[in-house]
Amino acid sequence: NKKYDYLIVGAGPFGSIFAYEAAKRGKRSLVIEKRDHVAGNTYTHQEHGITVHDYGAHIFHTDNKEVWDYVNHFADFNNYQNQVIANYKGELYNLPFNMNTFYKMWGTKTPAEAAAKIEEQKKVAGINGTPKNLEEQAISLIGTDIYQKLIKGYTEKQWGRKATELPSFIIKRLPVRYIYDNNYFNHRYQGIPVGGYTQIFDKMLDNDLIDVQTNTDFFANKDEYLKEFPRVLFTGMIDQYFDYKHGQLEYRSLKFETETIDENNHQGNAVINYTDAETPYTRVMEWKHFEFGAGDEDKTIITKEYPAEWKPGKEAYYPINNAENNDMAKKYANEAKKVGNVIFGGRLGQYRYLDMDQTFHEAFEAVKKEFNLGSDFKFEEK
Ligand code: FDA
Repeated sequence: NKKYDYLIVGAGPFGSIFAYEAAKRGKRSLVIEKRDHVAGNTYTHQEHGITVHDYGAHIFHTDNKEVWDYVNHFADFNNYQNQVIANYKGELYNLPFNMNTFYKMWGTKTPAEAAAKIEEQKKVAGINGTPKNLEEQAISLIGTDIYQKLIKGYTEKQWGRKATELPSFIIKRLPVRYIYDNNYFNHRYQGIPVGGYTQIFDKMLDNDLIDVQTNTDFFANKDEYLKEFPRVLFTGMIDQYFDYKHGQLEYRSLKFETETIDENNHQGNAVINYTDAETPYTRVMEWKHFEFGAGDEDKTIITKEYPAEWKPGKEAYYPINNAENNDMAKKYANEAKKVGNVIFGGRLGQYRYLDMDQTFHEAFEAVKKEFNLGSDFKFEEK
């Protein structure tokens, strides 16, 4: 196709940033997207004046000033801070584990008291040597009470397996804070774009040099696309691109159930985790609280998030980075290097869990490389 310099597969953050930056450099792109909307998993829509995140809660948090300044050019960010509540059989605790959690659990008031309590619990549990499974690993890090009430049920639901049957590497460390601070993230910059994420990618793609085709799957016409386009950016699944020749990479999926309720304020917080084993969902989001209660006064929208097995054809959310999958991903990455005219990027193209800020950074790196901008180049919006 002589009209375009690039075919971009996927209108998520990675593909959109690439198309936008290519257009700045006079290059034309056709962006194809198999869903009926742009913005990938960050997609949000409005209902009753409330911004709903369709693929799970998205909070922008970063230490990367370049990325933060850049994304702020496309939307106004509020100063939302994620502060999650855990509900264990009706008992409420603050997350992440901090002095408020410990006070509620044990009545400890000083950092020394809390640290002593955790040490005592670790000792009683008596785990010696290398932890054999996730349960032992968690107890050796935080003791039995927090493990039993706040980790065990949640983790078992998420992975669909007993904690004693899960590998210990899933929990490498557990953030423990000996301060009264409920902010989930340690990053310097954090917020939610007022009105949602979709506007960011709409603005990037609204360009004379960019055409967008939704409801279009690359694999319906892979051979023709590769013949017609001189350069391709592919942000879909890397194993599918290579016809699964080294096997199928595994993911974890999720199921979302959204309902509108005739009530102003349903749960009083943006996110509540259900950490017992019996409640079938892992968390409930109440969307208006991400924007400080914005939206109709007599309505609220909540979404229950359920863990789900992933099978081909289902939404792939989290890569399962065990040794087997990582080895396989490496083989695909080596194949990818041999394909001269295709760039592989984004969370599915790289088989990596990427937060949004990392996705922006990775897209910047790909643009620098593609346009020979040099490693010191800074992305700035005026
Ligand atoms: P993304 O998946 O967004 O986009 C890829 C696009 O390509 C999709 O639209 C897809 O339909 C399309 N596509 C795939 N194959 C195709 C094909 N064959 N043909 C055409 N189109 C195709 N990050 C963060 O910073 N804070 C947070 O709070 C969260 N929260 C969060 C919750 C959940 C549940 C998940 C799964 C993820 C997050 N994230 C997050 C991560 C965030 O979603 C992620 O960083 C970006 O979506 C990555 O952007 P990409 O463009 O790489 O992929």
